[in-house]
Amino acid sequence: MALPVSEESVQHEAAHDAAISGSDEGDTPSSPSPTEPRARTPNAIVKEYLLERVPEFRRLDSLREEGWQRPEGDAHFARQRHTADTSNQNGKTAWGFYKRMLSIAQELHDSTGALQIRHTASDPAILDMCAAPGGFLEVAMNQNPGACAVAFSLPESVGGHKLLMPRRSDVMCNFLDVTMLAADMGVGTGMAKAPEPDDTPKTAPTEQGKGQKHKLFGEVIPDNHPDADYFIRERQLQVSQKFDLVFCDGQVLRTHEEHRATYREKREATRLTLTQLALGLEHLRPGGTMVVLLHKVEAWDTVMLLRTFDRFTTGSTRTGRGVRTFKPRAGHKTRSSFYLVAMGVRSDSPEAHRAIARWKNLWRVATFGTDEEWTTAKYGDSSNEENVENLLEEFGDKLVALGRSVWKIQAQALKKAPFMQDAWATARPREFSG
Ligand SMILES: C[S@@+](CC[C@H](N)C(=O)[O-])C[C@H]1O[C@@H](n2cnc3c(N)ncnc32)[C@H](O)[C@@H]1O
Repeated sequence: MALPVSEESVQHEAAHDAAISGSDEGDTPSSPSPTEPRARTPNAIVKEYLLERVPEFRRLDSLREEGWQRPEGDAHFARQRHTADTSNQNGKTAWGFYKRMLSIAQELHDSTGALQIRHTASDPAILDMCAAPGGFLEVAMNQNPGACAVAFSLPESVGGHKLLMPRRSDVMCNFLDVTMLAADMGVGTGMAKAPEPDDTPKTAPTEQGKGQKHKLFGEVIPDNHPDADYFIRERQLQVSQKFDLVFCDGQVLRTHEEHRATYREKREATRLTLTQLALGLEHLRPGGTMVVLLHKVEAWDTVMLLRTFDRFTTGSTRTGRGVRTFKPRAGHKTRSSFYLVAMGVRSDSPEAHRAIARWKNLWRVATFGTDEEWTTAKYGDSSNEENVENLLEEFGDKLVALGRSVWKIQAQALKKAPFMQDAWATARPREFSG
C-alpha cells in the first residue's frame, strides 16, 4: 500500500509528526486499547474542529486522502529518503541540502524578520541546537555582525550531517548528540564524590542509585543503563550563558540509527525535541527569538506546544512579534513540516520556567522510564475529551490563524507534486499499491 502522504513516509518526520510536535510511534493517546470503548481521540477532535471551519485544511485533508491512493507517493518519498541518507557520501547532494537550508533561512527572515537580533545592545549571541550543514546559522551570522554563536551538531562519525558553512572564529561548534546532554538537562551532574562544604545535592539520590558506581548529586544515572557510559556528565552551557536567537531545527536521522541503543527508538523524536526546547528556552534571553521545526499544525501535541509558547510570548500585529508559523516555499513544501517562530519570548516568566521543568522531566522519563511511566508523564489527563474541547474553545481561533498558511502551502504543493498527476499515475503499474 502506498505510504500516506500525510506521513510523508520520511521515517524521522513521521516520528516527529507524532512527538512533542507529533508523536513517537505507538504511544500517542490516539490508539485506545482494544478493550476500551472507542473514545474520540484528541487528534480526531482537532481534525473534526478544523474540517468544520477551515477550507484550507479541508483541501489539504482531501489531497492527503488522494495521496493515500497513489503508489507513486511511495517511490517519491523513498527517493527522498535515499537522497537524505546518502547526502554525506554524495558531495553534490550535501551541497544541495546546504543551499536549500540557506534559501529557507533567507525566506524565513524575509517573511518574519526573525533572524535579526534587535533587543540586545551588546554581546548578541546565537545558539543553534542542531546546526549542520549550517544554512540557518550562516544567514543569522550575516544578519548580525558582531554576534557570536554556540552550535551543536551530531558528529558525522555517528551519522550526523557535515557542517558546510565556512568555519569562523566567532562560531564555536561542538559535535555531540544533544539528547545525551544529561548534566544540562539536570541529570547526572558529576560522578559520586565526597561533598564539598557548599556542594549540596539538589535532591537526595534515589533508592535505585544507592551504592552504585555512578551515584550522582542531583540525580542518578543507573549503572546498568544502556547509555551509562555515553551520557554527557559535564555541562556544555553554563547556567548564566544566554542567547538572543535560538534555533531548534534537529531531525532524527536514519543514518544515526545503528549507533543508538534500541531503547531509544520509540521515543527518540520526542527526546530530541524536548532537549532542544528545554535547553533552548532555558538559555534564551528574555525578549529573544526561538525558531523551532515542528510537524503537522493539527497534531494534538503540536497544538499543545503552540498554546504553551503563546502563553509566554508577547506579541502584537503592530510589532510583528509573538508566535507565528512559517512554511517555506524554498523546500519541503509537500511535507507537513513548518517552523514555529516565537519572537519576544518571556523566557524569565513563571510559565516559561514551568515549561522548561516539564520538558526536562519528560526527557528524564523518556530516557530512564518504563513505557507506563512514559505514557503517564506525557499525557496525564490533559488529553481527555473535555480538555481538548476546552483548549479548542480558548485557543481554536489562534490555531486556525497559525495553521492556515501552512495548510495552504502544503496543499498547493501536493496538488502540483508529480506523483499526484494523472499522467504519472496511469503510466505506472498499479500493482505497486497495496
Ligand atoms: C534539518 S538538519 C538542520 C539544518 C540546519 N538548521 C541548517 O540550516 O543547515 C537536522 C540536523 O539535526 C542534527 N541532529 C540529528 N540528531 C541529532 C542529535 N541527537 N544531536 C545533535 N544533532 C542532531 C543532524 O545531524 C542535522 O544536522
